[in-house]
Amino acid sequence: MDKLTREAQEHGEIFESLIFFEKLIPVLSDKNIEKFKSFLDEHAEDHFEFEEKEIFPIILDKGTNEEKNLIEELQSQHKEILDMINQLDKLVSTHGASSSGNNKEKIMKLNTKIIESLLAHARKEDTEIFPIFKKYGNNI
Ligand SMILES: [Fe+2]
Ligand SMILES: [Fe+2]
Repeated sequence: MDKLTREAQEHGEIFESLIFFEKLIPVLSDKNIEKFKSFLDEHAEDHFEFEEKEIFPIILDKGTNEEKNLIEELQSQHKEILDMINQLDKLVSTHGASSSGNNKEKIMKLNTKIIESLLAHARKEDTEIFPIFKKYGNNI
């Protein structure tokens, strides 16, 4: 499978899972938060790594300044999203997802923010990275 096909396929899977997890936010439980966390660990984090190793360097090497700036922006979004995932891990391991009151609300807000940021990030990649990568790097 070439890199662009893998990228498109993983985005499709990520969108589908995020929409599923978004529906679970109002019914937060220990069980579904664990599922969400393992999705983030296995899919989001691996996907970021794939992009940073296999896709971004090609554009950083061959791209125009504007294209390189876009990659830097996407890389800093990866970092922001990974920071939020770490915060979520800490909150859940300290308080548990079914804790009541403030902590539960914090976890729900963080889940919403992670999902929204990931969706916006992947959409930006779909519309802006795909055409650039097609130009330089497909099948490399
Ligand atoms: Fe990304
Ligand atoms: Fe992506």
